[in-house]
Amino acid sequence: MCGEFRSSDIGKQAVAMGFVAKYRNLGGMVFVDLRDRTGVVQLRFSTDFPETYAKSESIRNEYVIAVRGVVGARGEKNINFNIPTGEIEIEVRELRILSEADTTPFFITEDVKANEQLRLKYRYLDLRRASLQNILITRDKVMKAVSEYMASKGFLYVETPVLGKSTPEGARDYLVPSRVHPGSFYALPQSPQLYKQLLMIAGMDRYYQIAKCFRDEDLRANRQPEFTQIDMEMSFVDDIEDVMKVAEGLIRKIFKSAINYDLPKKIRRMEYKEAMERFGSDKPDTRFGLELIDLTKVVKKSGTTFSVFNNATRTGYSVRAINAKGMASSTRKEIDGFQEVVKEYGAKGLAYIALKPEGITSPIAKFFTEESLKMLIEAAKGETGDLILFVADKNKVVFDALGALRLAIAKQKELIPKGSYDFLWVTHFPLYEYNEEEKRLEAMHHPFTSPVTADLKYLDKNPLKVRAKAYDFVINGQEAGGGSIRIHSRDIQEAMFRKINLTEEDIKERFGFFVEAFRYGVPPHGGLAFGLDRLVMLLTGTDNIKDVIAFPKNQSAVCLMSDAPSTVTEKQLKELELDFKKE
Ligand code: AMO
Ligand code: AMP
Repeated sequence: MCGEFRSSDIGKQAVAMGFVAKYRNLGGMVFVDLRDRTGVVQLRFSTDFPETYAKSESIRNEYVIAVRGVVGARGEKNINFNIPTGEIEIEVRELRILSEADTTPFFITEDVKANEQLRLKYRYLDLRRASLQNILITRDKVMKAVSEYMASKGFLYVETPVLGKSTPEGARDYLVPSRVHPGSFYALPQSPQLYKQLLMIAGMDRYYQIAKCFRDEDLRANRQPEFTQIDMEMSFVDDIEDVMKVAEGLIRKIFKSAINYDLPKKIRRMEYKEAMERFGSDKPDTRFGLELIDLTKVVKKSGTTFSVFNNATRTGYSVRAINAKGMASSTRKEIDGFQEVVKEYGAKGLAYIALKPEGITSPIAKFFTEESLKMLIEAAKGETGDLILFVADKNKVVFDALGALRLAIAKQKELIPKGSYDFLWVTHFPLYEYNEEEKRLEAMHHPFTSPVTADLKYLDKNPLKVRAKAYDFVINGQEAGGGSIRIHSRDIQEAMFRKINLTEEDIKERFGFFVEAFRYGVPPHGGLAFGLDRLVMLLTGTDNIKDVIAFPKNQSAVCLMSDAPSTVTEKQLKELELDFKKE
């Protein structure tokens, strides 16, 4: 392969094939950089072989060629220390042009200038770049590490259907119309959740799969409509640590195999409640401070006349703050920018106290006595030079808003150490959350997640207090994976369904076959799924999920290369007995 020639090969016969990355005709001498997936090697054509030389003069960028020759040393002056093949070149005796190439729509180089749209349209050309190829190579290493590790732990690889029934994962389904049963649809799996549990009921004991999942949801930097999970499930487990141990071992193996990185001996665990209260997020980035401070009590005690704060404390909402150390001199414009961030998450405003050396600047100071203001500042551990930022609202808004603000400030002030990894398990998620719109409880994870046994006593009177045997694995503030111990008792499952107001009919219709399976003997079981794409992003240091997928979709779920999705012929629609209202 092109990138594999070394000085130890000098004098040997060589054959190389690849793409022309660069050519220089110096008159009497033609140099070509030949590229394949392993790197580049320099070819030298000289007039010593006149026929070959003449042919070499017609070579252009991206031609596909094959050469035969002898590996030679480059002159001392011409050594290129930047590439592994930099000490040698191939003196070409025979050249075959396997394929000519038109001028490509953009120049294929690492510092590519073309915009993303053009590069996605010609994805196969963009993929010729080493940086993208190396990401796919890392992805392959991850896949291999997964199979090796899972096999060593007794997991069986089982494939589950892509044409299936809607699973209760919570996003919108992609639907596939059935031709044989007009009016009926398959759903593409949002995850193999139901199937993997059925495999446990089928006695497979331990299952894993590298599974394609499909979710029709709003796309962000770390989301694609079709993505890949490393999915697993195991029987005869009851304690969350049983699953977490296997999953953690897998991550250790992946980081070691893919980038030779050793995880710390102990991975931290943090309960959901603590994560929310300290970081305003269930996937906290704990590489920097700016933790949230609950000031509800102090505000209550302060006797402030600020109606926003008073209304909040009176209605059971909270007032929380971030102390942005040393940022008192932030400009009005900067603070307005922070306000924009919190407003995106539903906060109605962002109060602040800037503790400048020359005195306090604050739109809310006037609502406090000198004494109570001092108390408030002390509670926020404010010192001269600090900027304290407050949000008052219901907890969800306060956490979301300050959680996002924390990240925005850290990014802006470059508080996150580069090239570091931070691993964390977040455990004990609430079993339920309250759906404001529909005025009902819903399962936070999915309705088959087991409650923490000690919390079962709250199920009737205070269901929001019930914690789940659920866990997420967080890397650098990203949810890399998550799972839970499942319910295997019929009574608990029924109680769970009742709480989320699923009628017998709903249950039968949505997961009838699944619930029925629970009548015939169920081993206690649990599992988890890692987002493979997100893992590869973290391993390769890219913040664009498209980089880790060979043929990705853009933000509007379109493949710019193939133009999917597209309209289909009348005949196809007719076969499916589908008709569209024409606007
Ligand atoms: P969950 O929905 O948390 O759990 O998904 C598991 C992991 O998949 C990744 N992920 C995504 N990656 C890219 N694009 C997306 N649109 C996307 N959505 C999710 C995340 C996430 O942590 N069946 C359960 C797992 C279980 O309980 O065993 C499930 O699917 O990294
Ligand atoms: P006002 O008296 O309405 O001008 O508000 C005074 C300050 O309180 C401004 O800086 C607002 O951004 C801020 N503010 C308004 N609503 C909230 C809220 N819910 N939480 C925190 N600060 C707020």
